[in-house]
Amino acid sequence: MRKPICCATILFAIWGHSAAAQDLESFRKIYPQADPFLGEQLGETEIEDAFSLANDLSNTIRRDYVNGSARRDAHPKAHGCVRASFSVREDLPAELTAGVFQPGAQYDALIRFSNGSPNAAGDDRNGDTRGMAMKLYGVSGAKLFADPASPDAQDFIQISSPYFFVNGSSGYTEFFAIVNKGDLLPMFKIPFILGWQGTINAAKMLSQKIPSPLDANYFSVTAYQFGDGDARVAVKYNTKPCAAAEQTYPVNGPNYLRHAMQAQLNTTPACFDFSIQKRPDDSFSTEDTISVWDEEKAPSVPVAKITIPVQEFDTAAQNAACEQTSFNPWHSNATHKPLGTVNRMRRVVYETISELRKSMNGGATQ
Ligand code: HEM
Repeated sequence: MRKPICCATILFAIWGHSAAAQDLESFRKIYPQADPFLGEQLGETEIEDAFSLANDLSNTIRRDYVNGSARRDAHPKAHGCVRASFSVREDLPAELTAGVFQPGAQYDALIRFSNGSPNAAGDDRNGDTRGMAMKLYGVSGAKLFADPASPDAQDFIQISSPYFFVNGSSGYTEFFAIVNKGDLLPMFKIPFILGWQGTINAAKMLSQKIPSPLDANYFSVTAYQFGDGDARVAVKYNTKPCAAAEQTYPVNGPNYLRHAMQAQLNTTPACFDFSIQKRPDDSFSTEDTISVWDEEKAPSVPVAKITIPVQEFDTAAQNAACEQTSFNPWHSNATHKPLGTVNRMRRVVYETISELRKSMNGGATQ
């Protein structure tokens, strides 16, 4: 639960900001290199911007949470973490074979479903973008940034929208500050902060309603490297239910998404197709997360099935373990390197916030 703001917490936030400001150099050391071959271009002030974004979000967490109860800044409300298996197609086409995508490969997986809103106590009946963060275990090879708790994990993080509302740090914190306050008047500022396309995307993202986390489409939004050396290309991912849902569940309370997921998994497994969308040419940007790659020119090809078996996930122990996990697009082999400004910023922002929650809660995140 977020705590009320008072003068002392504001002073602490300011102090926290200046204390962390000494670490810009350590950010520079770990900040990802851009790959011009795949259309990446480092922004002039990008590292400084990522640094101040990480500081702003850290200050918000310190201001809003007491020690012992710190949560993720984004997607703090989980619907649950479920066990899953990830099975790559036996007949995988050669041009879609790289890294974890090997014909017939099988991985154990963990999936955390969430709401995007920074409000951890939010009502599922409100429109929102939903998250699907997946960890594949047992993936050999060096990681760009190994998950300290699962060094062999390859993460894939997706949301229920094919686009984002910003192309970098600009506008991210201002937007959430306005939306979270909920006052109507400052909402008029949003088009000036996000621009028209960003505003339209944000409006659509914040009005999404889904019947169940197991009955929604998810997208990587950002681009990723696929393959190595001169054979490397850029791709995006998406995950869609294998078939239309057979059952419907009641929208019967603020946590109905968790209940709908448990109700299905009491009796019926869930199935998703995981697809790859290959960038056909350089006109498809790897830096722009506001625009969508046109399916006509860059069709999605299913490469793997995700199966979520019947299970009881909604237990106190499993929910606590779920809270301790950390997903990061950089928990990845170089073959699947995250691309673009937003992804590069996520390298340092996610680690900063995850570490902060760990230190405030006095334990290790996984
Ligand atoms: C500037 C852009 C972004 C910023 C600043 C940002 C920030 C964050 C932060 C701070 C967290 C919590 C990390 C933790 O404590 O472990 C998070 C989680 C998450 N973000 Fe982002 N994010 C950005 C872009 C995106 C994009 C483009 C996607 C689209 C896939 C995305 C999807 C998610 C999801 C699904 C989670 C929850 C992961 C989990 O279940 O642990 N984010 N984000």
